[in-house]
Amino acid sequence: MSVTLRTAEHQDISFLWYLRNRPDVYRFFKHPEPVSWEGHVEWVMCYLLGLHTGELKIIQWNALPVGQVRLDYEEEEVEISISILNEFRGKGIALRSVEMVCEMVKSGGGAKHVLAEIYKDNQASIKMFEKCGFVQKGQVGDFLHYIL
Ligand SMILES: CC(C)(COP(=O)(O)OP(=O)(O)OC[C@H]1O[C@@H](n2cnc3c(N)ncnc32)[C@H](O)[C@@H]1OP(=O)(O)O)[C@@H](O)C(=O)NCCC(=O)NCCS
Repeated sequence: MSVTLRTAEHQDISFLWYLRNRPDVYRFFKHPEPVSWEGHVEWVMCYLLGLHTGELKIIQWNALPVGQVRLDYEEEEVEISISILNEFRGKGIALRSVEMVCEMVKSGGGAKHVLAEIYKDNQASIKMFEKCGFVQKGQVGDFLHYIL
């Protein structure tokens, strides 16, 4: 069973919209509600066209798209965000994906720290990032700030 990452392309826009609008995905987001198709396309296009200083990657499990991982750069820090389709959770896919993107960030040399903002009740995400070596450095409102 292999986990691979590839850069998101135009053909992934529908999959990314489907994933973003799953209630079990957005429930711990800062805006815990579905997004419109128009709003989604506008958002994704910023990554696809390179208008945003970030990277959007499709997570594949045995060549099947099962999730996304995103890096948003800001000076010496990069924020990471990840989601996996419910049906493919609990297989170590997120853990492996975060390990891979953190290796990419380190070898790229552009950012000193990787940050994750996690809703305080999102135990799956907290445990997964802690297993990857992230440690809590603070809290703003309901969101815990984790850093690697
Ligand atoms: C958080 C999320 C990405 C984890 O994905 P996943 O592929 O299921 O995670 P993994 O299988 O790689 O789990 C790695 C470790 O995380 C922990 N973990 C994962 N899911 C867990 C759960 N439901 N409860 C407790 N711990 C959990 C475990 O320690 C696990 O290791 P183990 O199975 O060896 O014990 C997934 O639940 C998800 O997409 N959630 C919705 C979106 C979201 O909340 N994203 C995070 C925003 S910051």
